[in-house]
Amino acid sequence: MASLKGIQACVFDAYGTLFDVHSAVAQHSARLVDATAVSTLWRTKQLEYTWLRTLMDRYVEFWQVTGDALDFALETHQVSDSSLREDLMQAYLGLSCYPEVPLALKVLRQRGIRCAILSNGSPEMLAAAVENAELGNRFSAVISVDPIQVYKPDPRVYQMAVDELQLEPAQIAFQSSNAWDAVGAAVFGFQVVWVNRFGQRRERLGIHPAAELKSLEGLPGLLGD
Ligand code: LAC
Repeated sequence: MASLKGIQACVFDAYGTLFDVHSAVAQHSARLVDATAVSTLWRTKQLEYTWLRTLMDRYVEFWQVTGDALDFALETHQVSDSSLREDLMQAYLGLSCYPEVPLALKVLRQRGIRCAILSNGSPEMLAAAVENAELGNRFSAVISVDPIQVYKPDPRVYQMAVDELQLEPAQIAFQSSNAWDAVGAAVFGFQVVWVNRFGQRRERLGIHPAAELKSLEGLPGLLGD
């Protein structure tokens, strides 16, 4: 049942949407007392720091934000193993993609829909993740916020995809598992699919995504002519 019309390209958030952010800690869970709590706090702090740094006009690239957030999480959980810290950062460069991602991207490409990534990730981080997941030939563009030095949900970030793909916002389907990113993209004017992998509640920010899925498996079916 198609619910998005006139879509020319699909733009994807990276972390949490294509790539499993919790797969880094999962690789080393035996070395942590409460791996789930560390991973959750790591992710939460990483996002908070992107918002705060953008508001304060104090951009540093996502690799540093990710390291700072990890240090906060490890300190909170009284972990002082520096080799574990290095191993977790390395694991972040090789996150697993979610299982349905390769096939969903293949189907979209077969239908002539261009696919791109739009992410807070630094160019090196995104290149590593895409290569590790063997998704290199699936994207016509991998767009990092780094050249403009602000993080999502600043509208200038979403504008990067419009400029790169040379389309109107309404011709772009934007997919994110992050509810706040889905809202930011909807405010900007994309047709948004919230990939609600984690069974989160809707945000109360005055606007809702056009569609909601549990994974990307159903995405091709949502796109009409
Ligand atoms: C990203 C974060 C928000 O990839 O997941 O941009």
